[in-house]
Amino acid sequence: MKILKLLEKKKIQHAAELLLNSKEAIALTGAGVSTESGIPDFRSEGGIWEKYKPEIYGNIEAFLKNPAKFWEMAQKIAPNLFKAKPNPGHYALAELEKMDLIKAVITQNIDELHQKAGSVIVYEVHGNINRFSCLGCKASYTKEQIIRKMKREKKHGPSCEYCASPLKPSVVLFGEGLPRFEKYQSQALAQKADVMLIAGSSLSVAPVCDLPLYTLREKGDLIIVNDQPTDLDEKATVVIRHKTGTILPLIVEEIKRLQEE
Ligand code: APR
Ligand code: ZN
Repeated sequence: MKILKLLEKKKIQHAAELLLNSKEAIALTGAGVSTESGIPDFRSEGGIWEKYKPEIYGNIEAFLKNPAKFWEMAQKIAPNLFKAKPNPGHYALAELEKMDLIKAVITQNIDELHQKAGSVIVYEVHGNINRFSCLGCKASYTKEQIIRKMKREKKHGPSCEYCASPLKPSVVLFGEGLPRFEKYQSQALAQKADVMLIAGSSLSVAPVCDLPLYTLREKGDLIIVNDQPTDLDEKATVVIRHKTGTILPLIVEEIKRLQEE
């Protein structure tokens, strides 16, 4: 706590009290919770969309026209994603679930670090980089099969053994809908939440950026932990402008201190 100003300490205490007294709290996370695991986010300086234009590399129409472009980017960023390890922010959220203080993590991240840190109820609203399928016949492929195919089929990107259609990781590209179950389940949880802990997201991409509005509409509290301002800061009960890897463990520590009082 010594590195944080008194003001942050008060906010951490307020966030801890909100979570401790909550009945249906949930967490909503974005790429910012994984930057301390070595995975760049999308919109910070040096983020993924700075290097790879989303309209070319992250859009379903562009993918269907020329899958090789997407795979060119995937080849560069995927190895980092596959070897990344959870950081203290992920472990803190897993601990809050174990303490039954958050009911679920709704994540925009595709890196599976919440699950690797021990979180169980995780809704991946933008999919998962470790699952691959064929756009034609929906055949599914493992990461190992894709890595082997990438070596052989560099030019156009990997295609299906059965129907020769392009293969794609199960991640949601711009222009694609969200996976139905995760979409409706996260809306229902956000509606029911009396507290939403939002960590590491610029809250700039719909429909996920609307989830906090479901909580606010039902008079729930938002706690935002983010190192840059977001559009919802002035609607949040607590805003801590700091690293998630530092703050989330301190909130857990403060909850434990309050429980002992
Ligand atoms: N601690 C706290 N905040 C951080 C940290 C950190 N260690 N690292 C980065 N941030 C903040 C950034 O300042 C930024 O506001 O996290 C936020 C990450 O925002 P984005 O890069 O926009 O990522 P995200 O909100 O997850 O993007 C949503 O956009 O491109 C799509 O599908 C992609 O899921 C992604 C979605
Ligand atoms: Zn196929």
